[in-house]
Amino acid sequence: MSRQRLPAKRLIGAGMVILGMIGAAWVGVRESSAANAEPEYVFSYAENQAADYPTTLGAYRFAELVEERTEGRIRIMVWPDGELGVERDIIRQMQFGGVDFARVSLSQLAEYIPEFNALQMPYLYTDSGHMWRVLDGEIGDTFLGKVSAYELVGLSWYDAGARNFYTAHKPITALEDMQGMRIRVQESELMADMVEALGATAVPGEYADVYANIERGIVDGAENNWPSYESMSHYEVAGYFTVDEHTRVPEMQLCSAHTWEKLSGEDRQILLECAKESALYERECWTLREKESRQIVTSKGAKVVELSAEEKKRFFNAVKGVYEKYCGDYMDIIDEIIAMGD
Ligand code: GCU
Repeated sequence: MSRQRLPAKRLIGAGMVILGMIGAAWVGVRESSAANAEPEYVFSYAENQAADYPTTLGAYRFAELVEERTEGRIRIMVWPDGELGVERDIIRQMQFGGVDFARVSLSQLAEYIPEFNALQMPYLYTDSGHMWRVLDGEIGDTFLGKVSAYELVGLSWYDAGARNFYTAHKPITALEDMQGMRIRVQESELMADMVEALGATAVPGEYADVYANIERGIVDGAENNWPSYESMSHYEVAGYFTVDEHTRVPEMQLCSAHTWEKLSGEDRQILLECAKESALYERECWTLREKESRQIVTSKGAKVVELSAEEKKRFFNAVKGVYEKYCGDYMDIIDEIIAMGD
C-alpha cells in the first residue's frame, strides 16, 4: 500500500505551521518552573482572546499552577486568539474530548443549557459586587455543577465586566437612537431578542468578524465590555461608546468530562484549586485592564456617552419581555438574584 504524499512545498509549509503552533503553545506555558519533568499528560486549553487579555492571563496562571503542583506531570498548552476555533465549536469539541480545557462566555453555554440565561439577563445585576455575591455563593456553585450533565466540568467563574453598546456613525444617547440600527450580537438567541426589544436589528456573528463587519457597514455597531472594545480595536471603526451596562455575562472555565475521567481524585482536586486561584488572579487583571482600556480608547478619540439613570430605566423597561420568554421557568432564581442586590 502506498501512502499519499504531500508535495514537498506543502510539506515544508505544513511543517512550518506545526513548528509555529508548537512554538506558540510553548509561549503559553512559559515561565513554568516544573517544565523540565516529562509530562504524563499534555492538555489543550482554548481561549478566544489575545495573549495579553485578562482571561488569557488567567489561563496562563492556571497552566503554571497546575504544572507546578503536579510537579510537571500535567502540562496545559494555552491556545489564545481563537486558534482552536470559535467558542460554540469549542464547547462541542469538549463534549467529545477534542479540546481539554477552555474559557467560554456564558451566552455561548446558554445556547446549549438554556437555564444559564438566568445568570446573564439584561440589567439583572446592580454592579460587579452584586454579580460576584451571586457567583461566589450557592447559586454560582450550583450552576458550575449543572454543566456536568453535558459532558463538561465547571471549574471556576471568570470576570467579563459589563457590556455596552458602541456605534460607528451616531451615538446612542436615548432609546430612540436604537431604532434602525443594525447591531452585532453574540450568537445567542437571548442577546438577539434583547437588542430587538430595544428597537434595533440584531445581527448575530462571530467575535473575530466584528471589526470587519463594522468597517464594511454590514452592521452599525456592536456591544461588548471595555477590554474587548479596546483589545480588538473596535474603537477604530465604532468611535461612540455608550455606557449602559445592559448585561454582565460571566465566563466559565471548563474541563471536558472525557479529560476529567482520565485523572485521579488528587489531580482533580489540584485542578479545581488552581482554577479557583487563577480566577481570583483573572479578576485582578480584569479590574486593571477595564480602567486601562477606557483610558486607551478615550486617548485615541473614542467618545463616551454616559446614559442617564432615567434613560437606563427606559432601556430596562423595554427589555422586560425577554425575562418572561427566557426565565419563565427560573423566576425563583431571578428573584433570589435580585434580592442579593443592594
Ligand atoms: C467577550 C467574551 C468573548 C466573546 C465576545 C463576543 O469578549 O470574552 O468570549 O466571544 O465577548 O462578543 O463574542
